[in-house]
Amino acid sequence: MKAIVALTINGDRHEVAVPEHWTLLEALRYGLGLTGSKQGCDKGDCGACTVLLDDVPVLACITPVWEAEGGHVTTVEGLAGPGALSPLQQAFAETGAAQCGFCTPGILMSAHALLLRDPAPTRDAIKDALAGNLCRCTGYTKILDAVELAAQRLKAVELQERSGGADERKSGGDAASSGSVGASPTVPATAGVRADTLASAGSAGEWPDANGHVHANAAGPTPTDAHADATAPGRTEFIRSSAPPLFRSEG
Ligand code: FES
Ligand code: FES
Repeated sequence: MKAIVALTINGDRHEVAVPEHWTLLEALRYGLGLTGSKQGCDKGDCGACTVLLDDVPVLACITPVWEAEGGHVTTVEGLAGPGALSPLQQAFAETGAAQCGFCTPGILMSAHALLLRDPAPTRDAIKDALAGNLCRCTGYTKILDAVELAAQRLKAVELQERSGGADERKSGGDAASSGSVGASPTVPATAGVRADTLASAGSAGEWPDANGHVHANAAGPTPTDAHADATAPGRTEFIRSSAPPLFRSEG
């Protein structure tokens, strides 16, 4: 017997008719054609099916589909912006953290959840976060390196934002003290403001992705794309950059 299930996936609302006993993974893959989440063991052992439910990693192969109703599901298809890999995906590509790639979507989602709650995780914290994701190919070292690389880039953007914010406050303060109209010494730390700050070297472009996060393009000598969480002012979620030499993988 089928039932209509309403799911919000990567920011889009779907209503799908599925057999009542189906799992979230079955609904994603066979009901909606979202095949990024992999069906590995199909019994909760390998982590290949990991998706986020309200930003918490869950094993979609053992999650009844109706448990996802009313929540926000994020799958690997929701990580990248239009035409751009997410910083994690970029770091995985650069470090060789994906070989056959079967485990990669699940690992990306576990790592993404980690960086949402801890933008600067220790190596041990990364290991803990990925403990439920098995990989038969890489030996894990490159995967850990990739998550660290993404976290370093996130940190770099945060520092950039802070210094940009300080500059803005300074110029706002200067303007205020000189009597200029419309300048605010305390600019709220919204994604839009940070996008402008990051784009100060050139023309900026912004677009929201499926999850309501705002991407910002910054043109200039060191082009950098920030992926900022528009729903959480003051918090940058992740960054895609042109891989400044400082953060390139050494091995
Ligand atoms: S497919 Fe879900 S844990 Fe293996
Ligand atoms: S890259 Fe092949 S299983 Fe992980």
